[in-house]
Amino acid sequence: MKKLFVAAILSFLVLPVVVSAHDDKDPRHIAMTTLGKNMKAIKRGLKAGQITPDMHKQAEEIQAIAKSLTNLFPAGEQKQDSRAKPEIWSDAAGFNKSNQRFVLAAAALSQALKSNDVSAGQASQKRTGKTCGSCHKAYRLPKK
Ligand code: HEC
Repeated sequence: MKKLFVAAILSFLVLPVVVSAHDDKDPRHIAMTTLGKNMKAIKRGLKAGQITPDMHKQAEEIQAIAKSLTNLFPAGEQKQDSRAKPEIWSDAAGFNKSNQRFVLAAAALSQALKSNDVSAGQASQKRTGKTCGSCHKAYRLPKK
């Protein structure tokens, strides 16, 4: 009886750790979808030929997420339905390097928007998008 009780408590403690990668509360999912939304909003604004205060904030948010992105992939973490490739951990140096390119591009994007230069903003936005894509290509599994 006592053993069963302990097992029940243990399974209660262990189970919630197995979160789905598509859970609305999963910080990795929140961060990545925020990146997607902000990039789209910035692209849309630039296409309309404008740079708004919201776009400055969105770029700053992208920059902040970029700086701590690798923390969203702690060693040994397994999530259901995750498209994270094992290479994120087995080739951590390569993953960090890929993210470093994103960090630099995101800083340049913020800077370009601050200078209120739409065409520089567009070029930076494209360059930033490429750094997202190259990390996804190397470290994200294809859709099932
Ligand atoms: C250094 C690597 C890296 C960079 C840079 C990166 N991502 Fe990701 N992204 C990933 C990985 C890995 C996943 C898969 C995570 C998972 O399924 O657990 C992912 C997932 C996503 C998802 C799907 C999220 C979900 O849970 O449905 C979106 C959207 C996304 N990224 C957008 C972006 C955008 C936009 C950028 C650039 C502004 C970006 N990412 C930059 C590695 C990266």
